[in-house]
This record gives sequence, C-alpha cells and structure tokens, in this order.
Amino acid sequence: MLRTHRASTVRRVVAGWRRRGLTVGFVPTMGAIHAGHLSLVERAARHADRVVASVFVNPLQFAPHEDYRRYPRPAQRDRRLLRAASVDLLWEPRAAEFYPAGHRTRVKVEGLGDVLEGASRPGHFAGVATVVLKLLQVVGPDALWLGQKDAQQARIIERMVQDLDVPVRVRRAPTVRERDGLALSSRNAYLSREERRQAVALWRGLEAARARLRAGERSAARLKAVVRRVWREYPRVREDYVAVVDRDLQPLARVRGPALLAVAARLGRARLIDNLEWNGR
Ligand code: PAJ
Repeated sequence: MLRTHRASTVRRVVAGWRRRGLTVGFVPTMGAIHAGHLSLVERAARHADRVVASVFVNPLQFAPHEDYRRYPRPAQRDRRLLRAASVDLLWEPRAAEFYPAGHRTRVKVEGLGDVLEGASRPGHFAGVATVVLKLLQVVGPDALWLGQKDAQQARIIERMVQDLDVPVRVRRAPTVRERDGLALSSRNAYLSREERRQAVALWRGLEAARARLRAGERSAARLKAVVRRVWREYPRVREDYVAVVDRDLQPLARVRGPALLAVAARLGRARLIDNLEWNGR
C-alpha cells in the first residue's frame, strides 16, 4: 500500500494507473476504521483494478461545539487495517494543505442539506459536499463508494455528482451491524457499557416499524409511534428525530412506495443515527 499526505502524489499515482488502462474505486473516510469501512473497500476492490482510500477528519463538517478535537484518530491501526483490506493508495490529507488559508468555496445542495441531520447540524452537509467534491477532483475515480448507514449523506452526494457533472459512478453499500443490530460507527466508541447496551434501541425501533410495514401499516405517524414505543424501554436514549421520508428526504404522511425511516438519538455524549430503506414491498 502506498501512503501519502499530498494531493500531487495521489494525482501522479492515479495517472500512472490510468495510462495502463486500470480502473479506480475510491472510499473516503474519517478514519477510526471499522468493518463498515472495510466492507466498502472490499466492494470497491471487487469492482475496480485499484482502490484509493482517504482518511481525513474534515474540520469543515463539524460545528464548533461538536467532537472534531476528540474524534478518534488511531492512525497506525487504520493504516494496518486498510493495508490488510488491500487498499492500493491511502491518502491522508493534512488540514492546512487541504484547506489553505483563504479558502472560501462551499458546495451547498439546496433542500437536501437542511433537513434531518442538517436540521440538527447546520452547515454539516456543506462541509461534507465540499470535502467530497475536493477529494473527487484529486482522485478522479471511476466509482465512489458510500455507506447506506449515512443515507442522507449518500443522497446529497449523488445529487451533487449529478448536478455538477462529476464523472464518477456513486455506489452505495449496505449498513454493517454488530450482532445485536447496532450499526457500526466510529462514534460508538463514546458509549459507556450501559449506553452501548441501550444503543440497540435504534435498530430495534426500526425493526419494529419494518414489521408493521410488512403487516400493511402505511401511516407515517403510526410507524413513528412504533419506534418511540420501543425507545421508551431504553431510558438512556434521547430522541433527536424519528422520520419517514421519500427518496428526496421529504416527509411522508403515508408510505406509498419507496421510503426511508431515519432516526437519530443521543446516548450520553454520543449522537447516533440509523435508518431503514423500505423498497415498497
Ligand atoms: P465516516 O463516518 O468515516 O464514513 C466513511 C464511509 O463509511 C461513509 O460512506 C459511511 O456511510 C460508511 N460507513 C460508516 N459506517 C458504516 C457501516 N456501519 N456500514 C457501512 N458503511 C458505513 O462519512 C464520513 O466518514 C464523512 O462524512 C466523509 C464522507 C468521509 C466526508 O468527510
């Protein structure tokens, strides 16, 4: 595995592969690598000749009161895991180089970035869209791999790629979970033992709603009530939102076709999200 801090090296290495006719898959991450990230790398490797991964805790997507400084940064472990997962090139941008003094441009995806996560985290998705576009400009991959775990992020990036004619195929991979259903997340590390035990509420609530959907329930209000009823058994779970939305993240009163059930909750100092895609059947 090649490893660099520099965008110029990434460009040079990828250009070399291109001259040989090789295809490239790209997996952007903020590190604290877990099996969810590695599943993206595996998929990228199955569909392309070379895999580029990036590890960059992007300051632009954290609000001042958020966890930018204490976000986990186990660099050696991340490198080991990504090397073992057969990443060919690891890019670890440095913030001062990636965002030189004076940078001002932000990518804002209207209407998708200010609902759900965006309502609780103003400016977050402009930070995400901006960093992902910059990463794509340097790497220039054939495919960009994203996790369904962050469904809103994936939707926003798909929209941005389409709107700005970025020549890349955006692919989504399913959420990787712990045995009890908790979605893997770098932020699970913030949970105490008891919070970790109760964190399963997010997925349990979504599963209960899915069971009701399968039984024919179509009222969004009643589906949300099902999630909240499950959460009542987990007193550490403080709701941020429970939402039933369409593909464009707009709220639904009734589920008529494909829908997304999206939830966010606080447990102690952690803020966790999860979602369930309903394909209409
Ligand atoms: P990060 O949270 O590190 O996630 C990197 C990628 O891994 C994202 O596409 C995310 O959806 C995916 N992922 C996270 N947990 C997953 C899980 N349990 N199963 C499957 N995929 C999972 O998302 C970001 O970083 C950043 O916002 C980024 C896109 C890198 C921009 O800074």
